Amino acid sequence: MALFAVPNLIQDLIPAASESINPWNWNLNASGLFLPTMHALSKFALLGACAVHSVMGLPESVERREANLLKRNVDDWINRETPIAWQRLLCNIGPNGCAVANQGVPAGVVVASPSRANPDYWYTWTRDAALVFKGIADAFARNYTADLHTQLKNFVGSQAKLQGVGNPSGGLSDGQGLGEAKFMVDLKEYTGEWGRPQRDGPPLRAIALIRYAKWLVENGYKSTAESQVWPTIENDLKYSAQYWNQTGFDLWEEVPGSSFFTIASTHRALIEGAQLGAALGKPTRVYTTVAPQVLCFQQSFWNAREGFIVSNINGGEYRRGRDANSLLVAIHNFDPSAGCDANTFQPCSDKALSNHKAVVDSFRSIYNINRGIAQNKAVAVGRYSEDVYYNGNPWFLTTFAAAEQLYDALLVWKAQGSITITQTSLSFFRDHVSGATVGTHAAGSTIYNQIISAITAYADGFVEINSRYAHSNGAMPEQYDRNSGSPLAAPDLTWSYSSFLTATARRDGYIPSGWGAGQATALPSGQCQKFEIASSYSLPPTPSFPSSISPAPNAPVEQVTSVPAGCTNPEKVFVTFNQRATTAWGQVIKIVGNVPELGGWDVNKAIPLSASGYTGSNPLWSITVPIQAGSNVQYKYIRITNGVAGVSWESGDNRAYTVPGATCNIQSRSDNWK
Ligand code: NOJ
Ligand code: NOJ
Repeated sequence: MALFAVPNLIQDLIPAASESINPWNWNLNASGLFLPTMHALSKFALLGACAVHSVMGLPESVERREANLLKRNVDDWINRETPIAWQRLLCNIGPNGCAVANQGVPAGVVVASPSRANPDYWYTWTRDAALVFKGIADAFARNYTADLHTQLKNFVGSQAKLQGVGNPSGGLSDGQGLGEAKFMVDLKEYTGEWGRPQRDGPPLRAIALIRYAKWLVENGYKSTAESQVWPTIENDLKYSAQYWNQTGFDLWEEVPGSSFFTIASTHRALIEGAQLGAALGKPTRVYTTVAPQVLCFQQSFWNAREGFIVSNINGGEYRRGRDANSLLVAIHNFDPSAGCDANTFQPCSDKALSNHKAVVDSFRSIYNINRGIAQNKAVAVGRYSEDVYYNGNPWFLTTFAAAEQLYDALLVWKAQGSITITQTSLSFFRDHVSGATVGTHAAGSTIYNQIISAITAYADGFVEINSRYAHSNGAMPEQYDRNSGSPLAAPDLTWSYSSFLTATARRDGYIPSGWGAGQATALPSGQCQKFEIASSYSLPPTPSFPSSISPAPNAPVEQVTSVPAGCTNPEKVFVTFNQRATTAWGQVIKIVGNVPELGGWDVNKAIPLSASGYTGSNPLWSITVPIQAGSNVQYKYIRITNGVAGVSWESGDNRAYTVPGATCNIQSRSDNWK
């Protein structure tokens, strides 16, 4: 209709558009290949928008035209990139993936990147593999294919085996080996120096496996879920409940301390594990006892004065704390059943939005490729501003995470039909809608409409930035250069593709399955308590799946949705052993005793206590052990220096304690080394 008006309208637009993301600059960067089409599409998109504008005379028309243009460009790139991302992601999974076939990579093993040097990513990281398979499991649950099903079954098999591989973090007997970050691609241990342990691996793997196990239950294969998948999940849940409060390395493998990402992943795994466990008739009290305390601790990462999450505490404070770590929490713990809950850091919560601004803003001035981009527009996002790894560049997966959090928020706002702005989130919203005010804005109101369109465009902007800096053939490595934008570091990073696929699934309105967050937002009353509960671990049987599994034709057979109440199974009484023992660096205190729960006097089965509460003035070692009600317990503490060879026992008689009858109250012992 308005075809003849094109030349003028385009001229009108050029100055406005070039002030921010300039769609005509697409060809300045790596994705030049797409340019001709983009160009044509851009003009076309412009046309439609301008025509509407001239008829209706809307005041925000320039923004609207820009937004339409952006949407078309992003739509177009996503359409091209989606099959490429799937293909390249699957290429990195053994045994048959195109980049790893015939190179000794067993079935279900995710290689981080095919790169064998500069950097050498020819390993399998538990974190990367779990996040990739969580994405696969969600996609599979949406749209069954036999190929993805094979991948999932292979993943279960590879992880069941991996759990038994002893490594520098330890073995399976007390669970410590589960915290190892990476293994050789043939599942042998990696013996070089590394930041270890990394305690996000077990909960993330549990979450990925739970997703598949839930699918099995929901399609009528409960006994398969129980016999083939649960044993591996259970080890990871036990690890999470036992070691969550001990420090370890963050997801970037650099900072020893407490990491927001690890803690939040642990909370999700325990809640979702309890949910699945209840459906399978398993004991869940360990998980439901620990989970609220984990959530309680999770709150302490919030910096209320400056409105952001301090991603690393208890060791990472030398950084400013603004870190994509927290963006990843928002997207990976997304569950619309919790609405915009701030305790679980939902993507649309006021805290998560304020934090989104703080994290994104921390990258605005430090990268040359972000220079001159207006405050309300997307920029390239890295890990954290002080990063020096490969010169500290933007990453694909962190920039996609910035988009994904916003797509998640949009889904919830639209489902709720309202947007609530608090004092905490006001400055996030003001960047995009200058008239935003504190309060609840219902669908249909001006502010609601303005926010929905502005944030949609803002989210698309992050995807558009990555599209510019991806290789023109659609390949995505880990990073792109902060000055030139050229793609660099580990090529074909599996996690980059996965992060593209999850972000764009949210953009398309696909909501991942929930994890019971709506039933798990309450904080315990009073002070946080840090129960660390010991369990015994065992090697999962080699999984073997019936060949007949297929999706249930009609409605799901059973939905896994309810999180069990706190205290079930009180005939196991939870006893906290507190032992004050001054130790030298490298020494560990363990407890051993006559009952099976305390290892039956077998030093090799002694239970390590945690030093997470140890201070110079209070040398506290502590562990909570579920013990049969009414047991007559004899026990002693042992001090271990350099492995079990160097055991020294407490002096004197055995300690004696009678466990009370079945109770939900947690008991505690207070001992001093003798
Ligand atoms: C390798 C790790 O994977 C990366 O996260 C880290 O930044 C570098 N080592 C430098 O420590
Ligand atoms: C370095 C990243 O920091 C870490 O999170 C990741 O697991 C490895 N690279 C492998 O992709």
